[in-house]
Amino acid sequence: MHCTIIDAPVRDGAGRAGCDMGPGALRAAGLIDAISGLGHRVADAGRIERRPLRAISHGNTALKALPEIAAWTEALSEAAYAASDGAMPIFLGGDHSISAGTLAGLARRAQTAGRPLFVLWLDAHPDFHTLETTTSGNLHGIPLAYAAGRPGFAGYLPDLPATVDPERICLFGIRSVDPAERDALNAARVTVHDMRAIRRHGAATPIGDFLARIAREDGLLHVSLDVDFLDPGIAPAVGTAVPGGATLDEARLVMALLSQAGLVTSLDLVELNPVLDGDGRTARLIVDLVADLMGRRIERRPATARPTRSF
Ligand code: ARG
Ligand code: MN
Ligand code: MN
Ligand code: MN
Repeated sequence: MHCTIIDAPVRDGAGRAGCDMGPGALRAAGLIDAISGLGHRVADAGRIERRPLRAISHGNTALKALPEIAAWTEALSEAAYAASDGAMPIFLGGDHSISAGTLAGLARRAQTAGRPLFVLWLDAHPDFHTLETTTSGNLHGIPLAYAAGRPGFAGYLPDLPATVDPERICLFGIRSVDPAERDALNAARVTVHDMRAIRRHGAATPIGDFLARIAREDGLLHVSLDVDFLDPGIAPAVGTAVPGGATLDEARLVMALLSQAGLVTSLDLVELNPVLDGDGRTARLIVDLVADLMGRRIERRPATARPTRSF
């Protein structure tokens, strides 16, 4: 597998500062060595530059940093389209607003390739607000709605070359949904596996079913991993922590299933806030999960290590 690492140090979409330091923290935690150590060729594209700002105003006065996110979205959409031509781009966020751009570019790539794009959204939140429905005004709450073509973004964020079919989106780990998002998710027929369902029925069946469908349809698979998918007890470095998240075992199981299926074609790592990660444990955990996803075996047991007797 050929991977391209792309830094997207965006902080303007989150309510608190710090996510701009996410790429540096993931690199310091050994992300590139972890991937290349598994035998993959890693290209380092470095940092994306934001496009120039232009004045944009919107009737929702709660919105924060709309010109900034529009300019980042434009840059990231181009970068995602270019980097997904034959390689697996890995985007180091940055807050989750980066996925407005990455998904826009990847949807265009899928259209060019003539293959359907599927999205696995590993998150406590659906991030399915429009510019009208967000009450916090934090634009990390809108990327999936934008990419899925919900109305109201035209003229504010870049026009989408192609949208993500909501019926090919799987939300997994969800446990904090605003009322406007719930109604829109139902109407759009997005698949939602919330934490309560995962606790009851486990992670293997829903993930396995989704992967089987992608294989049947010869789809591309983008995984968007928000740090708050994980329980704050194991991953405290996130500004929007929600209790009751995925445990280490659950997260590793998901990564192992993704690795075995071999269908992932692009990845976002978002919302890591190193300011809240005193000892760097969250960054190291994310690197560990990426290594699982990229093919590290939970147990390495080479044939020679099997109990054999030869005297
Ligand atoms: N739904 C809330 C909001 O819109 C929280 C969004 C959190 N999003 C995230 N990517 N962490 O403000
Ligand atoms: Mn190779
Ligand atoms: Mn999110
Ligand atoms: Mn979240």
